Amino acid sequence: MSAIAESIFEKVSYVVGPSDKIIALHEPWIDEKDAACVNAVILSGWVSYQGEMVNKFERSLEEYLNVPHVVSVVNGTAALYIALKALGIKQNDEVILPSLTFAATANAVCHAGATPHFVDSCEKTLAIDFDKLDAYLESSAFLDDAGRLINKRTKNEIKAIIPVHIFGASFNLERLQEVACKFHLQIIEDAAEALGSEYNAQKVSASTGIGIVSFNGNKIITTGGGGAVAIQDAAIAQKIRHLSTTAKKPHRYEFEHDEIGYNLRLPAINAALGYSQMQKMDLFLKKKKNLYKMYVTAFSSVDVGAMFDPNSFGESNNWLNAFILNDENKSKKNEVLGFLNDKNISARPFWKPLHMLDIYNHCPRSDCSKASNLYDRVICLPSSAFLGSYE
Ligand SMILES: Cc1ncc(COP(=O)(O)O)c(C=O)c1O
Repeated sequence: MSAIAESIFEKVSYVVGPSDKIIALHEPWIDEKDAACVNAVILSGWVSYQGEMVNKFERSLEEYLNVPHVVSVVNGTAALYIALKALGIKQNDEVILPSLTFAATANAVCHAGATPHFVDSCEKTLAIDFDKLDAYLESSAFLDDAGRLINKRTKNEIKAIIPVHIFGASFNLERLQEVACKFHLQIIEDAAEALGSEYNAQKVSASTGIGIVSFNGNKIITTGGGGAVAIQDAAIAQKIRHLSTTAKKPHRYEFEHDEIGYNLRLPAINAALGYSQMQKMDLFLKKKKNLYKMYVTAFSSVDVGAMFDPNSFGESNNWLNAFILNDENKSKKNEVLGFLNDKNISARPFWKPLHMLDIYNHCPRSDCSKASNLYDRVICLPSSAFLGSYE
């Protein structure tokens, strides 16, 4: 085994501490209080989306995120999907998103009938490279007389952009807004991984209008499965709530639906877990920052790469820690991953960039060479909030 794999293993095992079990990439932290909250909802009988608990969870998210409207749904993918529907994204529309994201971002665009249009990322934030995007759209698209952005090659309208806060790291929201404004793009922020992260001392999610978060089992708080849409505009919020509740018109007893709606609302059993987990958000953030700092200290003496700094544009929630190999050591990535996993440490690569997947072969894309290069170099490290040593 190479000295590189051995030295990375030594640093990671020092940080995560001794264990006779597999150290997962990210595990939830659920305690007796969470169980009691879920149990109370089960025994109340109000287990579906109706009743007080979903309301309590949504209001606690609104307060925490400082946004006027939150609608909770069954997962983050559904949150993206219903946000796209509410913004009128449909067949033949193109939606810009980073090639370097979890497949769910692109899947939701396809579910809405539209086409993902992949663009490149940057090493500083791991998110979309907005300068490169600006230059790319200048050369590959134009604004028609009606102000619609048209892809010169496909002749389709490029209607929206879904930037992603990768691993909880905030990106430059002002630069995003400049580019989106210049090219008339609607924005949906994918903050699935970034609950609690900040930009300009504001929690990210919907500062640009509309955004989503995920409460999957591997996120900073969990509802088992779940997600939410955070929305500034009251009319759009109402549309999302209505569409995701089978588009049923309010009435004491009649069943009348004014659209073909969806059944996407988060059940109260899940909301109860989320509400209880929200009470521990500050603790989770503190523990995760501490774990990140431990990794930074441990890896400061390693010269084959460096820890990803997720704080370039504001406080990160440190959802997932990543070590980035130098270019000259990228050939060692699989050896390092294999060695760590052999030693029961569930390190993972970056997601394979979506422009490289056969299923997305047909989709338009810019040059995505930085995304491919980052895929060759990033190693994701165990990041559960309870790992590491605590004050
Ligand atoms: C960037 C990103 N977007 C969307 C999702 C989808 O969320 P969910 O798994 O809750 O559907 C995830 C992950 O789970 C994600 O990491």
